[in-house]
Amino acid sequence: MKVTLSVAALAAVASAAPKPGMSNLKKIRQAAPQITDADILNYALTLEHLEDKFYREGLGNYTEGEFASFGFDATFYGNLKEISSDETTHVKFLTAALTAAGATPVKECTYAFGVTDPKMFVATSSILEGVGVSAYLGAAAEIVSAEYLTAAGSILTVESRHSSYIRSSLGESPFPSPFDVPLSLNEVYTLAAPFIVSCPSDNPTLPVKAFPKVVSPPTNDPITPGKTITLLTPDSIVKPADGSSQIYAAFITVTGPVFAPATATDGGFTVTVPTAPEGGAPIAGQTYAVLTGCNTTVTDETVAAGPAVFEVGPAK
Ligand SMILES: *[C@@H]1O[C@H](CO)[C@@H](O)[C@H](O)[C@H]1NC(C)=O
Ligand SMILES: *[C@@H]1O[C@H](CO)[C@@H](O)[C@H](O)[C@H]1NC(C)=O
Repeated sequence: MKVTLSVAALAAVASAAPKPGMSNLKKIRQAAPQITDADILNYALTLEHLEDKFYREGLGNYTEGEFASFGFDATFYGNLKEISSDETTHVKFLTAALTAAGATPVKECTYAFGVTDPKMFVATSSILEGVGVSAYLGAAAEIVSAEYLTAAGSILTVESRHSSYIRSSLGESPFPSPFDVPLSLNEVYTLAAPFIVSCPSDNPTLPVKAFPKVVSPPTNDPITPGKTITLLTPDSIVKPADGSSQIYAAFITVTGPVFAPATATDGGFTVTVPTAPEGGAPIAGQTYAVLTGCNTTVTDETVAAGPAVFEVGPAK
């Protein structure tokens, strides 16, 4: 069967009603109710704007020679420009699809990336690409229209190639796990929000919110299962919604969260990175952990803070 991804074809299904019933993935990862495909496309566009601006700004900040002085050669620089161009194309595609569907596409915001040199730029790029993969993967189960799902999938696979390439360039495994991690819209927005300074006031409001931030401070030792790490909670005292006193770190995987008790410490919590249960997706590569009072499930109602994002894997 031939699948043609035209903006017009996408527009025809834009106003479809939310899908009834629950997919298997939703049973594992309960997501926002009653979200429309236009909301999801605008959510994707919000992330694409952030990535697009990130690459354009970084390539404006640093010359090919400056990248080279940090060990990133001419081939890498050329591929960065290609990635930047892909993100611009994604922005144009989603903007056109939303416009054709009669929805208002979100516009670019102003951002603070806090990047100070080419090395930090590439490290941030790696995180953003990984979050992009998890965002599209998590949103997939919410998309009603098959056309939109294919379009989103065709972007997801490219984000995943960007991620592998950047990881490999940083000396990390390009494919550290047989499974990628789906994140909910609010989990992704929590990771994106610290970069967003302000948005145009006429941008449509999306049904997403940021949880309080959780930060995994840089470590010299590689993080592996069995290691104890610190998760900082700079924004707030974390209180679970259900009033329980024990806090857990829930490590998100496609086969379900893996829980580990978190111990309060100055400015946050310590937690020992768990090993995934037999048959479950491993905790490896770019990893996400939320803080919660519940140790049986992770939903937007039970997340107290996070996710934190950090790399789990062997020494580089
Ligand atoms: C570009 O440079 C400015 C000024 O140093 C910095 O604030 C910003 O985070 C940098 N952005 C990127 C993407 O490199
Ligand atoms: C979950 O919490 C209960 C107590 O509420 C405890 O008995 C159980 O061992 C915990 N399970 C995990 C995986 O931490």
